[in-house]
Amino acid sequence: MNPILAFYRSSIGRKWVVAITGLVLFGFVIGHMLGNLQMFWGPDQINSYAVHLRDLGPLLWIVRIVLLTCFVLHIQCTIALARANRAARPEKYAYYATKQASKASRTMIVSGLIVLSFVLFHLMHFTFGWIDARNANLHEAAQDPLLGPGRHDVYRMVIAGFNHWPVSFFYLLGIGLLCWHLSHGFASVFQTLGLRNHRVEGFLRWTSGGLAALVFLGYCAIPLAVMTGILTDTNHPFGTPEQHPDAGHGAKTAAAVAR
Ligand code: HEM
Repeated sequence: MNPILAFYRSSIGRKWVVAITGLVLFGFVIGHMLGNLQMFWGPDQINSYAVHLRDLGPLLWIVRIVLLTCFVLHIQCTIALARANRAARPEKYAYYATKQASKASRTMIVSGLIVLSFVLFHLMHFTFGWIDARNANLHEAAQDPLLGPGRHDVYRMVIAGFNHWPVSFFYLLGIGLLCWHLSHGFASVFQTLGLRNHRVEGFLRWTSGGLAALVFLGYCAIPLAVMTGILTDTNHPFGTPEQHPDAGHGAKTAAAVAR
């Protein structure tokens, strides 16, 4: 058998794949959070950031393909490992430690699947616009109506999205589970890489807890700020539809949303 395939099919190989893909996905989580926090710098900042991302063109697609591959491999290897563990498990747990490890991996799988459904919902919400097409198609008022609508108004889209309380609560729940998953996954990565021992155990626990808490606060800040009225689009410098009767399709849609 091809040695790469043989490694991939081995238990240690799969653990490495879960660890490395997990680190890549964690990198995305941090990068996406920092990008999203630009909401607090106002519409111009976040909308031009979205334009810069789209302008990356083929590079953006490479990043998306890498992320999707990591996502699929991460899930596939986790499920394969859990199945192999179950098949190898004796009727009764011989040691308390084995029982604990099995419980942790089961909760990792359940939290991972809920995070997966959250990410699918999130893509349908903001990227594909299937949850509310009116919000996903918002654009800034057109600079020149002949050139069509202005930039994609990510700022207004996010605010309109989180103005629905059930949606915001679902995000808070999804982000909470994501952070729980991260805090446990982080320590497992060190275990797989052979870097976990009693000397670094305390440090690892604090670092994973601290990072998960930062990610939780960074992501939750946006829906919470919208729900409490700290982030609002009433002073949008690129105009409400009423200020810009010549605005493109998106701004007209915003008028419909506001009504
Ligand atoms: C308050 C929290 C969040 C906000 C405000 C937010 C906002 C956004 C926005 C505005 C987009 C782009 C929509 C577009 O213009 O196409 C997006 C895409 C995305 N988000 Fe989030 N997001 C949040 C949380 C998360 C979380 C927790 C994850 C996953 C761990 C996540 C994963 C993604 C992915 C995978 C994409 C697609 C990226 C792409 O198209 O290349 N987001 N998000």
